[in-house]
Amino acid sequence: MISRLKGTDDILPPGSAKWRTLLRAFEDLSERFGYEFALLPVIEATELFSRGVGEATEIVEKQMFTFEDRGGRSVTLRPELTAGMVRAFLDAGAQGTLKLAAAGPMFRYEQPQKGRRRQFYQVDFEYLGEESPDADVEIIELAYRLLEEVGVPGIRLAINSIGDAADRVEYRRILQEFLRAREGELSPDARRRIDDNPLRVLDSKTDAEAVVDAPVPLDHLGGEARAHFDGVRAGLDALGIAYEVVPRLVRGLDYYNRTVFELFSSGFEAAQSALGGGGRYDPLAEAIGSSREIPAVGAAMGCDRIVEAMPAPRADRLDVFVAVASPERRNDARRWVSTLRSEGLRVDWDVTPDRSIRGQFKSADRAGAAAVAVVGDEWGEGQVTLRRLATGEEERIAIEEVGSWLSR
Ligand code: HAM
Repeated sequence: MISRLKGTDDILPPGSAKWRTLLRAFEDLSERFGYEFALLPVIEATELFSRGVGEATEIVEKQMFTFEDRGGRSVTLRPELTAGMVRAFLDAGAQGTLKLAAAGPMFRYEQPQKGRRRQFYQVDFEYLGEESPDADVEIIELAYRLLEEVGVPGIRLAINSIGDAADRVEYRRILQEFLRAREGELSPDARRRIDDNPLRVLDSKTDAEAVVDAPVPLDHLGGEARAHFDGVRAGLDALGIAYEVVPRLVRGLDYYNRTVFELFSSGFEAAQSALGGGGRYDPLAEAIGSSREIPAVGAAMGCDRIVEAMPAPRADRLDVFVAVASPERRNDARRWVSTLRSEGLRVDWDVTPDRSIRGQFKSADRAGAAAVAVVGDEWGEGQVTLRRLATGEEERIAIEEVGSWLSR
């Protein structure tokens, strides 16, 4: 028996019901917010991520599934979607603005645990070509509403601004000075980061105590970045979306400037517990070869973690199970099942021929049906017998009234 690889999952029923709810909410919400649909390659040139996400990030240093293809090119299974979205936007001419939604598997070679998988799933929203803080607000709202829509409890939103690249030159120097003075108290990983990625030390769990009074980017914002952040906050305030400004929030990918954010839920506690995150990434397009800066902002939500935080789905999976009382009624039942399905009801029946009524009721139960409709002799008078499985309540009713009886 060959087993699945470490850190990968078979997402099957009954657990997969929540996934379906989540992916539907994603489709529905992104459409309502005006985000168009995108499907991108799962495999990209390694350089897209080493230059886009950043050479000195955990993802690029330690977590990528990178290999040489048969043509000798270095390729990588995407660890995230944003770099690919910007590449695709550039490939398509990068005119004006584009709002994109995408979903699919991502790959990171991590030590697997609860909510940390090697193959995991994201739903992703990107607002490309727009610098207004209202684009940031819209992306944050969309991420927030997705969690609300699927019933995730106790949503907490953390936001911060890490400023513009120019603001960070001076800030980086100040932070490096602070970290060098504390070098003795830092973990080996943090010491290594002082030169190549000092910002990351701010949100390192192991170094929290040593850097508790470190200078933060928020106190070193330039005028434009500060005004932008004020705009983001004002927009969230106007929508009544509660947030907490967390000055230590910096994120693990190098492409961000200005706004960064993460979302949490009381329904999911783990070592790494963000259900989603994102921010503004104006520098990314140039990092992967664009001749001009393309302002953009986006969010990615971790499906594996969201599903852990979601409440149990509704108990019934079918509105009605159609049982056939006698073999002569089989084609009537077949056509009726087809009609009910085309009307939008969730309907199933037993395709095994000649099963007893008792056997068909068992199938209905196993299938999670709310009710059983028996197609028997009363069919000739335009009627069926309906039984609600939860209560045992039974009634003979006209075929055309079945829909309203079920929704009662
Ligand atoms: P990220 O914070 O690396 O951001 O990932 C977003 C979310 O994906 C995380 O909050 C988490 O829920 C989930 N996630 C990440 N790694 C794993 C894993 N190994 N197992 C399970 N879930 C995981 C990004 O990926 C950026 N591309 C977000 C973004 C979009 N920024 C701008 N646009």
